[in-house]
Amino acid sequence: MASETLTIIDNRTGKQYEIPIKNGAVKATDLFQIKVTEDDGIVSYDPGFMNTASCQSRITYVDGDKGMLRYRGYPIEQIAEKSTYLETAYLILYGELPTKPQLAEWTHNVTYHSIIHENIKKLIDGFHHDAHPMGILVSTVGALSTFYPEAKKIFDVKARRDQTYRLISKMPTLSAFAYRHSLGLPFSYPDNDLSYTGNFLNMLFKMTELKYQPHPVLERALDILFILHADHEQNCSTNAMRSVGSSQVDPYSAVAAAAAALYGPLHGGANEAVLRMLMEIGSKGKVSEFIKKVKGGEGRLMGFGHRVYKNYDPRAKIIKEVADQVFEVTGRNPLLDIALELERIALEDEYFIRRKLYPNVDFYSGLIYQSMGLPMDMFPVLFAIPRTSGWIAQWEEMLLDPDQKLARPKQVYLGAGTREYVPMDKRK
Ligand code: ACO
Repeated sequence: MASETLTIIDNRTGKQYEIPIKNGAVKATDLFQIKVTEDDGIVSYDPGFMNTASCQSRITYVDGDKGMLRYRGYPIEQIAEKSTYLETAYLILYGELPTKPQLAEWTHNVTYHSIIHENIKKLIDGFHHDAHPMGILVSTVGALSTFYPEAKKIFDVKARRDQTYRLISKMPTLSAFAYRHSLGLPFSYPDNDLSYTGNFLNMLFKMTELKYQPHPVLERALDILFILHADHEQNCSTNAMRSVGSSQVDPYSAVAAAAAALYGPLHGGANEAVLRMLMEIGSKGKVSEFIKKVKGGEGRLMGFGHRVYKNYDPRAKIIKEVADQVFEVTGRNPLLDIALELERIALEDEYFIRRKLYPNVDFYSGLIYQSMGLPMDMFPVLFAIPRTSGWIAQWEEMLLDPDQKLARPKQVYLGAGTREYVPMDKRK
């Protein structure tokens, strides 16, 4: 049998090294023994982690070439069809589908932590009326750490479980309150009779009616969207969660960091950017002209391309079906025709084919959210709520992994060598 090692010859010294390969990976620290002098061991240089595994994980599997996504081994297509968001969150967090009593207990615990301290409401009141809800969410979820100081006990199983219930439960409340604040509407409190997504719709949209009744098609559509966004292995925000969490800070602070990472247009802000792009294009007839500009280097086709998927994102396929169901209730989103035309042209175009650029999860999700009456500012928030289960699962896996350490990358220093301090009057 071939040996599971890699042989490296350093042509600077002629020395040969044999490095073990385990699970398809070599340890970057094994490269450090390759040196010319005592202290110049080789490091691997990988901005953006293009080919660096930062951890071993058992949560989510993505095969980007095949367009495949699995949570704990279960294909996303089966989960989206048969499961609910809360059951999926349980699966992601605890590794197995829950039994009936486990699901009942889990649902009860998540449901009964949804109210937030009234002082958080005062904090929200301090924001400008036009404050971006993602900015409010990042701040308020971080602020929760001050309300639950026991969250610092990150190696205590019970404390971790309590913060897990609270985080998954309170993210929709914080998000809905941020939304209501932007409209100057009174906050709508959680209704424990409703499902996770039904209650979220209640907190967003309840007006003067005594009891809010979510539309079952929209409630289920949102639940499927939440399932699709629950985890996606080592994406930018999850990496932020793990990296910040590696300092052993409490999970509220780490979730605030992860949510901040999700705010950026290359990650969770992409579906907002997709809608802005569709509105800017304006009509189906202008799509070719827009594609020409993108190919000429003027901007990107938002909602297309992915660091991992070099095939159709499986989540985008499911979302396209959900979109049809939602539009039957809300009426067809007029921007859909532009999106379909963009997809049609891009999938036939040499530029996109060669670079393996396909629609990603964000290409159609914004159209659905908009049709449900949600403003674009809320889109990254709608991503952060379900991703919280993935962030916590990945954070916990990191904490319990004996291989993990404080995340602290190396650098390749290219700056000035030692020089003498220059007094102000001698500087040019
Ligand atoms: N439109 C046009 N060209 C693109 C696009 C795009 N959306 N995405 C990548 N390219 C081109 C790049 O210009 C580059 O071309 P070149 O080789 O001629 O220079 C090539 O494809 C490779 O692009 P990179 O930026 O190196 O690929 P990377 O893996 O770093 O980018 C990313 C991935 C950031 C998602 C990128 O595809 C992108 O910007 N897409 C648009 C934003 C978006 O939809 N983000 C959501 C991602 S999904 C998520 O976060 C949930």
